[in-house]
Amino acid sequence: MIRVNENYFKLQASYLFSEIAKRVSDFQAAHADKDIIKLGIGDVTRALPRACIDALHKAVDEMGHDRTFRGYGPEQGYLFLREKIAAADFQARGADVSADEIFISDGTKCDSSNIQEIFDAGIKIAIPDPVYPVYLDASVMAGRTGKFQNGRFEGICYMASNRENNFIPDLPAEPVDLIYLCFPNNPTGATISRELLQSWVDYARENKAVILYDAAYEAFIQDDGVPRSIYEIPNAREVAIEFRSFSKTAGFTGTRCAYTVVPKNCVAFDGEGTRHALHPLWNRRHCTKFNGVSYPVQRAAEAVYSDEGAVQVKELVGYYLKNAALIRQEITGLGLDCIGGQNSPYVWIDGKMDSWDFFDLLLNRAGVVCTPGSGFGKCGHGYIRISAFNSFENVRRAMARIRETLT
Ligand code: MLT
Repeated sequence: MIRVNENYFKLQASYLFSEIAKRVSDFQAAHADKDIIKLGIGDVTRALPRACIDALHKAVDEMGHDRTFRGYGPEQGYLFLREKIAAADFQARGADVSADEIFISDGTKCDSSNIQEIFDAGIKIAIPDPVYPVYLDASVMAGRTGKFQNGRFEGICYMASNRENNFIPDLPAEPVDLIYLCFPNNPTGATISRELLQSWVDYARENKAVILYDAAYEAFIQDDGVPRSIYEIPNAREVAIEFRSFSKTAGFTGTRCAYTVVPKNCVAFDGEGTRHALHPLWNRRHCTKFNGVSYPVQRAAEAVYSDEGAVQVKELVGYYLKNAALIRQEITGLGLDCIGGQNSPYVWIDGKMDSWDFFDLLLNRAGVVCTPGSGFGKCGHGYIRISAFNSFENVRRAMARIRETLT
């Protein structure tokens, strides 16, 4: 008898952003004349940088001639892109990462969940709360958790991020094996200092753990003191895998390109306690199960590192950060506490009411879509997240409507 993967029945009914999309489309169907401004899911709205578009066109033309046509590319990604990434994103900042430690992929969502496959089924996973839902849902689907009870899955070590710890989780009180960290954080927008990140690397080394470091929002960091990569921290290479994405950096949410760094000396252990490098395991997985990112898209991503591309990307990020600054200013003006929006496109707001009630209030009265904080975990109760990804004009209109609704 064919059996289903019953772990799926433990999940919440639908993925957070699908649930929000459904509620918004139901609302739109019932109020066809209502103008809705979406500041919910972090999806970019501005065009790709000119340099990326030019590179994309050129690469598409190459595909139209036998002489320059490309079939399957290297599974790990083209060297022209991996070399640029290694030099600009890591070596230029003193982080020791080489091109052959980089795997090009189609997204951090996939990589940060698929990476679990190279670890034993019995490991203990530590996940921040609130959290980007993918890390948790992927753990549940893989059967790494027990039941969902009182807002929590059994078997997971939840790491609370709240006002008391400035939204940076404390080191786990129990031994854990695999630790998800995300900075600048989604959903809170919090950043981590070099000193605190060092304490996580030290913890991982002492406890023979591995950190999965999601740095998808790194491009939004404005403070020079804030680390952009975990590999800026001494010895992090032994214990950390880092995920990066062109989605928010360069507007690639619909174009798809990201990468994962697995340092050659990052290790895990077998049942006898023997060390094993993770790089060959991820390489094996990637070659077997991933089809690669298309040649034109990798050329477009490469253009991010050209002189003009770098200027255009900076301008793009700056545009969204200006939106975030306005959101912060308006929210603070309403007397509400918030964090984020300075080194991140997300503003995390203490709404002082149930998150879904706040979501409904903003949707029904202001015609503005936000993300309810409780969708990111128990510690998100009472919060909402507002995303800066929209036009400045729409953000200005949305904040004026929110002001009117709340005063
Ligand atoms: C978010 O809104 O949290 C992100 O857009 C989700 C994602 O990047 O998958």
